[in-house]
Amino acid sequence: MTAYGSFPGSRPRRLRTTPAMRRMVAETRLGPADLILPAFVREGVSEPVPIAAMPGVVQHSLDTLRKAAVEAREAGVSGIMLFGVPEDANKDAAGTAGTDPDGILQVAIRAVKAEVGDELVIMSDLCLDEYTDHGHCGVLDADGRVDNDATLERYAEMAQVQADAGVHVVGPSGMMDGQVGVVRDALDTIGKEDVAILAYTAKYSSAFFGPFREAVASSLKGDRKTYQQDPANLRESMRELALDLEEGADMVMVKPAGPYLDVLAKVADAVDVPVAAYQVSGEYAMVEAAAEKGWIDRDTAILETLTGIRRAGAQMILTYWATEVAQKLAR
Ligand code: PBG
Repeated sequence: MTAYGSFPGSRPRRLRTTPAMRRMVAETRLGPADLILPAFVREGVSEPVPIAAMPGVVQHSLDTLRKAAVEAREAGVSGIMLFGVPEDANKDAAGTAGTDPDGILQVAIRAVKAEVGDELVIMSDLCLDEYTDHGHCGVLDADGRVDNDATLERYAEMAQVQADAGVHVVGPSGMMDGQVGVVRDALDTIGKEDVAILAYTAKYSSAFFGPFREAVASSLKGDRKTYQQDPANLRESMRELALDLEEGADMVMVKPAGPYLDVLAKVADAVDVPVAAYQVSGEYAMVEAAAEKGWIDRDTAILETLTGIRRAGAQMILTYWATEVAQKLAR
């Protein structure tokens, strides 16, 4: 009963009195297994290349990628999401390097698989933007528009070479209509029915992907507004969700995470498949930049962003801080 006399009848502060008390009543927990590390691997380098807009993140060489995978596994991280960065000379209009069995991503999948086997879930970005000389996520038609159905054919091939290389999960991220269904079909056709699909269900055309473009040395001029979603839309994500599930998505993802927690919460409420969120390059860069200036407490801010994403309903979080946070949580 609430008493408005001399004493408050209800005192929520009682449950906040000590760290042990707060820990006990915490509604949201964050553990190493909730985290997935996105990692970039660059073709033709023997030393890792720093990414200026993402301090602390590098374009790995194959060698340092293997080490990063081992480190992530040792810290208890669940998975690693691989992005290939081909040499400029290997980019073309069709993104051929993306379907070359000896393309950088396929080589990286095999290298990580050889190193950690099944102890880390190996995931791969299934998209053409890293491999096309125009930087779009698909192939272009005669008028320079991204051709949805021609792109689907490329994605089907990509799925097969990535699966052949040994990946456990593919992540189609190009936002083409029908991509999940086509990828599922392509995998099943070659007997890779155990390879799972993490569908980028709600992927917004976001300024927060900015630093990623440097990370993958993107050739993109212009934007992706004809295929990625308008930040103004929420119901549209529910439509994308229904389609992805119908087409066979095993897990669904919302991306970016922080500015789209409402989308995440709604998606998480609606489904019974695992839900992931991708804390993207710009979300990372903002915290790192503010911390570098001494304007924010870096470690507390990182945990707060991740806790918020979990609270909103994400079971798994892709974050560039995965290994570091997992190591700290274990202590
Ligand atoms: C597309 C892809 C992008 C990101 C992940 N997959 C870039 C884009 O859509 O422009 C962004 C990830 C990040 O910003 O951290 N292959």
